[in-house]
Amino acid sequence: MKLLSGKPGWTVTADVIVIGSGVAGLTTALNLRSSNLSVLLVTKAKIDEGSTKWAQGGIAAALGPGDTPDQHKKDTLIAGAGLCGTDAVDVLVTEGPEAVRKLIARGAVFDRSESGEIALTREGGHLRNRILHAGGDATGAEVSRALLAAVNDDDGIEVIENALAIDVLKTDEGAVCGVTLHVIGAGSRDGVGRALARAVVIATGGLGQVYAQTTNPSVSTGDGVALALRAGAEIADVEFIQFHPTVLWRDDSLSGQQPLISEAVRGEGAVLVNDKGIHFMADKHPQGDLAPRDIVAIEIFKQMKESNSPHVWLDATKVQGFAERFPTIFASCLENGIDPRKQMIPVSPASHYSSGGVKVDLMGRTSIPGLYACGETACTGAHGANRLASNSLLEGLVFGTRISTDISENIADQGKPSEEISKDFLLSPAIKMTLQLAMSQGAGVMRSAQSLKETLLTLEQLATRTSNAPCIEAWEVSNLYLLATTIARAALERKETRGSHWRSDFPETSVDWSKRIVQNYDDNGVWSSKLEEVK
Ligand code: FAD
Ligand code: SIN
Repeated sequence: MKLLSGKPGWTVTADVIVIGSGVAGLTTALNLRSSNLSVLLVTKAKIDEGSTKWAQGGIAAALGPGDTPDQHKKDTLIAGAGLCGTDAVDVLVTEGPEAVRKLIARGAVFDRSESGEIALTREGGHLRNRILHAGGDATGAEVSRALLAAVNDDDGIEVIENALAIDVLKTDEGAVCGVTLHVIGAGSRDGVGRALARAVVIATGGLGQVYAQTTNPSVSTGDGVALALRAGAEIADVEFIQFHPTVLWRDDSLSGQQPLISEAVRGEGAVLVNDKGIHFMADKHPQGDLAPRDIVAIEIFKQMKESNSPHVWLDATKVQGFAERFPTIFASCLENGIDPRKQMIPVSPASHYSSGGVKVDLMGRTSIPGLYACGETACTGAHGANRLASNSLLEGLVFGTRISTDISENIADQGKPSEEISKDFLLSPAIKMTLQLAMSQGAGVMRSAQSLKETLLTLEQLATRTSNAPCIEAWEVSNLYLLATTIARAALERKETRGSHWRSDFPETSVDWSKRIVQNYDDNGVWSSKLEEVK
């Protein structure tokens, strides 16, 4: 299966292609350079576009006095609701502190306390203060700045901006040996071309744009997961879409990226209240407002339903020095007419993070030789059914390092791209809004067999609206369609409630479902799904 696109008009080569310039792609690219491999970094918009620069709360790592990887592991496993791969969690929490130290060595500057120690805050699901942050609530911007500066300084990394990866190229033996790209460029590298390499790393970030309201930027259309699926790779855990509990509510009719109010605001003392002024999380979980994210999101959803209100309130009026501690959030609240020092902030859940993705092993290898996946695109198993707050930036740092080690040690010539013509398809960009609404309504915070079947029916109807005009919007919407279908199918299949997957018709967690749903398409484009034990 491939997306319909023009015939490649140019070719570029490198040892390794990295697709995406967020924390995962940049970390992988930089680490590859220690073995002198040439890297081609392609990114579909400007180099700093992507979720990374929007990250607010911070990076979780056991760096504080008395903290240990083991305590971090326990919190991660609890948040993951029984579906975390324990080996992947071990890697994340034990290699996390060193990965963060390396980031600091690369120039990232984190906030410090008055005594000069790195300041640590708390977020949902963490039993202790463990989150490093920068610029108050601008952690991602600092991480991105530091990594981009290092990439700029390295002549062995060639960057192509406005380069959208369409599909992978494979050899006759089925190994990945490159990608097709669409570049809005100049001169010889404009339009569709092909990039050839001995290994390809997909680091294209999340898929929040599958839903009508999301914290994710517009580039988060899940291209890498869709591309991997079309190439025949396995994907896992995609039903576990994390809805961030506290996204600034402005108007239900607004779609696309919405401003986030970091969990760290609750970490610094803010509380959630309903329309009656009741602090409803107080008796819902031992950690109250700082319960794992899935639990807070569903409770907000229930409160909104009960009061027939489009949002609940976040009361941050008692947070000391709000404007200085959370300058980005403060500015976005003021822009929307709310002074969080004096007024409560209207908040509701919105799609935020994909805990699943392209299934990879502990070295980031997908099920296809030569193809790796890293960051939010990948499913390492470290997040299980619900990612622990601030474990995502960390995952990009840790697994980006591992992937580069594996590539450096095992890189092999994959051979030439096969001439085989596979079936291609493309959908009309006009279906985007209907698709997003169908997903929000039927496959959102709360799902049921009925709502999911309705969503799947809508998607089936949308699939008839094909297009013969390849363009960025058509490729993106075709990717969104593929992901929406796999999310809804897995959510329908999983007949239980677990982590961020809530089923109104199956409200209990079932031991029978302590398994992972793995999906893929075969060479003939036939979809299948299987259950796998979690290791
Ligand atoms: P991204 O940073 O999203 O980068 C993906 C890259 O791929 C981009 O450069 C994009 O342009 C490119 N790309 C996409 N498709 C293509 C294509 N087809 N071809 C070429 N390039 C492509 N996590 C935390 O741990 N702590 C936090 O505090 C935190 N706060 C968050 C706040 C917000 C508002 C959001 C949205 C997320 C937050 N997260 C946080 C999650 C975290 O930021 C992301 O999961 C993480 O940054 C993902 O990094 P990444 O490198 O995988 O992807
Ligand atoms: C936040 O700051 O609330 C987001 C943190 C995360 O997604 O890990």
